Amino acid sequence: MYLKSALLGLISLASASNVPSRQHLFTNPDADNDVTYTIPTVHESAVQARRILRLESIGTLSTVFPSTHAVEQRPADVGGAPIGLMDYFGDCEPNTGNPTILAITIATSFKNVDAGSNITLSLRWHPQDNVWRSPAALPRFSLVGRLEDIDTDAVEKAGITACYVAYHKDAAWWLPGNRIHESKWVRLVVEEIYWIGGFGDRAYIGWIPLEEWQSVTPEEIESVKLPGEKKGGWGSWKAWLGLGEEEQGIFEL
Ligand SMILES: *[C@@H]1O[C@H](CO)[C@@H](O)[C@H](O)[C@H]1NC(C)=O
Repeated sequence: MYLKSALLGLISLASASNVPSRQHLFTNPDADNDVTYTIPTVHESAVQARRILRLESIGTLSTVFPSTHAVEQRPADVGGAPIGLMDYFGDCEPNTGNPTILAITIATSFKNVDAGSNITLSLRWHPQDNVWRSPAALPRFSLVGRLEDIDTDAVEKAGITACYVAYHKDAAWWLPGNRIHESKWVRLVVEEIYWIGGFGDRAYIGWIPLEEWQSVTPEEIESVKLPGEKKGGWGSWKAWLGLGEEEQGIFEL
């Protein structure tokens, strides 16, 4: 089954219509070159990005080790080195596009931020069907921003806990106030967005202005479909997250 779909994938890769010109793996072609595909606009790319933020829930937080290390034991020469670590997020403040993160105080990413590091969250789209696609052809992006504490009132008002636990059932173990790890709710306040929509001859690659990211409407997020997104449309991802009627209301703006 897997072999078959892999072979089919290779066959379709070999068909001329599906082969990107190699120089466009990481850049868009010049405007005067022949382009056989309509490249999504920057705003359409922002809509796709916001839908990925909605449907994905795991990404990579990148931070930089501080040059001095006070108490912690670690190799002496890692100061200034970047480190990318898997972490959870949730699209729990969906009208802003600022991802919600449950920051565990002792985790490296948050210690680095406390020591003055900048932070980015990188995510990519994982198709939900079993069709083979070149991962290089699929959208991925990085959100550059800063962490901001979400105050208790806002947590309650926005239903942050229910939303986050709907994305991550296991996070119930380390909610703020648990006995295992000190944790707190933070939002990544998005400041810059770097987007790679896929191969550059058919997808936008570059910076998405913050206004485009922030101006995406709930209807727009609902209206697009990502490559290999499972049928069933909008209702299905809520069911897939296991949201009850009441919690689903969080996302109706
Ligand atoms: C964080 O990024 C800003 C630019 O956005 C830069 O001026 C600053 O030096 C960076 N901080 C660190 C600790 O690298």
